Amino acid sequence: MSEPWWKKSVVYQVYPQSFKDSNNDGVGDIRGIIEKLPYIKRLGADVIWLNPIYESPNVDNGYDISDYRAIQKRYGTMEDFEELLGKAHELGIRIIMDLVVNHTSDQHKWFKESCKAEKNKYRDYYIWKDGKNGKEPNNWGSSFGGSTWEYKDSVGKYYLHLFAKEQPDLNWENEEVRNEVYDVMRFWLDKGIDGFRMDVINLISKRQEFKDGTEIRDNSFASYYEGASNGPRVHEFLHEMNEKVLSKYNLITVGETPNTTTEDAIKYSAASREELNMVFQFEHMHVDYDENRKWNIMRPKLSDLKKVLSKWQERLAEEGWNSLYWNNHDQARVVSRFGDDGKYRIESAKMLGTLLHMMQGTPYVYQGEELAMTNVHFDSIEDYKDIEILNRYHELVDLKGKDPSYALSVIHAKGRDNARTPMQWDNSENAGFSHSEPWIKVNPNYVDINAQKQIDDENSVFNYYRKLIQLRKDYDIITSGRYELILKDDSDIFAYLRKGENETLLTICNFTNRETIFRLPENIKYNSYELLIGNYENNNGIDADIKLKPYEARVYLLK
Ligand code: GLC
Repeated sequence: MSEPWWKKSVVYQVYPQSFKDSNNDGVGDIRGIIEKLPYIKRLGADVIWLNPIYESPNVDNGYDISDYRAIQKRYGTMEDFEELLGKAHELGIRIIMDLVVNHTSDQHKWFKESCKAEKNKYRDYYIWKDGKNGKEPNNWGSSFGGSTWEYKDSVGKYYLHLFAKEQPDLNWENEEVRNEVYDVMRFWLDKGIDGFRMDVINLISKRQEFKDGTEIRDNSFASYYEGASNGPRVHEFLHEMNEKVLSKYNLITVGETPNTTTEDAIKYSAASREELNMVFQFEHMHVDYDENRKWNIMRPKLSDLKKVLSKWQERLAEEGWNSLYWNNHDQARVVSRFGDDGKYRIESAKMLGTLLHMMQGTPYVYQGEELAMTNVHFDSIEDYKDIEILNRYHELVDLKGKDPSYALSVIHAKGRDNARTPMQWDNSENAGFSHSEPWIKVNPNYVDINAQKQIDDENSVFNYYRKLIQLRKDYDIITSGRYELILKDDSDIFAYLRKGENETLLTICNFTNRETIFRLPENIKYNSYELLIGNYENNNGIDADIKLKPYEARVYLLK
């Protein structure tokens, strides 16, 4: 049986609000994406994942949906969307949309009905509970701070919201809710879209006891994870979704699944289970977490990154499938986080791209990653827009009395707006994103870091990513080779093999800003070698020790 197409695909993530503004209102839009399709084609991506463009009050930038079947006006019209889909397909690019169905907006008509004093069928679309001893039903803390429960006078109960209070959680125990979701999915699939990225999909099945959580976060409240992640019916629900909807189409599906182990991921993504194709796990994004979780300025240990990424490569080799990512709209820019966004920005960005793209799985490239766009350092909290950042700042400064400069420093390092500043197209005003003031400020480094400067430069990060993407198409071993970590204890170098029947792919990455020596372990035998890609000029082989330059990366095919 031939492998499914999505195992050889590369996905490009577009955050529409910040991609390209065609009508100069300061907000990116669908016609802007249409204009830039040739750019995405040139990079070589096979699939575009669009962050939510549905009707929404934008409390959480579109992850609070008030109408699943309508395009938000500022992004354009349904005709624009259909044109985008048609033009992408003409170019051989597929489009997947974000499916946000753990929760809706509180402005969704289901929720408005649900809140009415007079009970109707929508009451059970959401999760309503009585308080306990005059307080919330349990001690769960929401992702954006505060309790996960909000009281409604009209109902006389609390409703559950794992995220902002404007994002009430749907009650997946209710079959009618599930059928509504499946109808929404069919609506978009029948338009011809090619799949879904499913927002926090492993949170849909809550443990019905709604017990207090024990994990104290920030010494103030417990996380909802114990009670809500990978819950008792989640696989049943996803299997049902697959049976009723997904299996009827030829799709790519990826579930966002925080707090998920490799065992869980196999259950979600093993073909035999008929659920999803793959999931976004978070373990490698947590290598620089501490007791304040992501809010710190710590550098990860290379040994931790090796351990986590190798574990995922090994455990999902037989069953299940990995998604490979460094970046998305929720993460700080990887070149700033794990690389060097100063002197070695270009080298370290290429190195990080190499490390990820030679692994097994489906790679995701987040807009601007292919240009090595960096984190942004706004001086004032006023310049930030993200609900998570603003809540965190308030908590640190107003509630805990921390120094504002400390709060800003962790926001600079980890805040989600690092990923959300406008795409840097050229060095004209507003980075060529818009002729009006953008909804969020551009990163001032656009003068140097922009697409126009890189597209025709053979040595640019853009063209390096292009080659990485092409290599996956040219060499099956990148899809199928068996992963093996080498030089496990080396604290500077991350190197691994991908073993095929008659050949081996060798990837070598120097994670430091110093020169360091790489010596091929003696048990690795070969007759010939070929350098497939590298981020420095070199003609050297691997017969002798290699003096790797700062952040150097090389990939060899050994036969
Ligand atoms: C996911 C999204 C994130 C959003 C959250 C709530 O993690 O990626 O942007 O805030 O879900 O929908």
